[in-house]
Amino acid sequence: MHILVTGGNGFIGSHLTERLLDAGHEVSIVDDLSTGQKTNLDGVLSNPRLKVIHADLGDADLVKQVCQDVDVVYHLAAAVGVALIAKQPIQTIHRNIYPTQLLLEELRRLHLAGKKVSMFLASTSEVYGKNPKSVWTENDDLVFGATTKPRWSYGASKAIDEFLALACVRECNMNIVIGRFFNVVGPRQSGAYGMVLPRFISAAIAGKPLIVHDDGKQERCFAHVSDVVGAVVSLMNTPSCFGKIYNIGADQPVSILEMAQRVIAIVNPKCTIEFQSYSQAYDDDFEDIRRRVPDLTRLRQAIGYHATQSLDDIIRDVWRASRA
Ligand SMILES: NC(=O)c1ccc[n+]([C@@H]2O[C@H](COP(=O)([O-])OP(=O)(O)OC[C@H]3O[C@@H](n4cnc5c(N)ncnc54)[C@H](O)[C@@H]3O)[C@@H](O)[C@H]2O)c1
Repeated sequence: MHILVTGGNGFIGSHLTERLLDAGHEVSIVDDLSTGQKTNLDGVLSNPRLKVIHADLGDADLVKQVCQDVDVVYHLAAAVGVALIAKQPIQTIHRNIYPTQLLLEELRRLHLAGKKVSMFLASTSEVYGKNPKSVWTENDDLVFGATTKPRWSYGASKAIDEFLALACVRECNMNIVIGRFFNVVGPRQSGAYGMVLPRFISAAIAGKPLIVHDDGKQERCFAHVSDVVGAVVSLMNTPSCFGKIYNIGADQPVSILEMAQRVIAIVNPKCTIEFQSYSQAYDDDFEDIRRRVPDLTRLRQAIGYHATQSLDDIIRDVWRASRA
């Protein structure tokens, strides 16, 4: 198949591109390198089945051109990362809605002309906002904070993408799968935009204190990117999954403080932990989510998903990759 991966120079997109090339597909990627790195695709650049286009997907002509003879689109391009979102809300909203709208419009046009192109839409656990339930299932309410707090623009913009995609399913029966990623981690993830594990690993390698925000009791579930990419590809290879939303990630919560302690134990036992308030880390407007745990029942039933890597495996893998 000929597959388009948007955001292919990004963290998850580069792993997905490698997986699809390994499976024998022809892969085109589009990435404007806004947060992605050219080097993320170094391992596959010489593959003759890979085509790399460095351009902004907010261009209708480009979108038309890159969708021309593809069978599947994996749409991962977005503005990602809590720090980036807090600092650049205009860019977040624009990048997360407009390219998705252009892609869906073009795929709908092709669909109405008789060519079915299936699409995976990368969404996020942030769409649940601050829903107080202890475990989130796909039909739960979206509970965002006030619009005066830019952080919620990320989840709200991804929710608009979901509404648009589901409208295409409902009105035109298009083959679309929506995946809500929970915390995805692994080699190549950048710590520059607020992602916690790469920040901790770099600090531990440098022998610096690990900076934990607030009291560190926030709970998250961390999944290795290879498990996540495997789930994404399986969903797209299972036609009964079209038209549905799936939580994707791990479901074993760990507090951020506990994760910092595990990083220290594995990478550099001499390191210490320092606490920083949200206002020091971001700004006075910042509001966080205390607990974020997915219900993975739907994903398990659809594709028999199970995570293969523990948090310690993941920490060791990211550490190994950071030293390479
Ligand atoms: N990493 C996570 O834990 C996580 C969690 C939830 C959701 N997601 C979603 O997964 C997807 C991939 O995230 P990631 O962690 O790999 O982030 P990333 O920043 O590494 O990847 C995003 C890529 O998209 C590119 N991009 C952004 N806007 C673009 C545009 N207009 N045109 C072309 N390229 C553009 C960036 O340059 C980057 O390479 C995103 O849609 C994100 O919202 C990720």
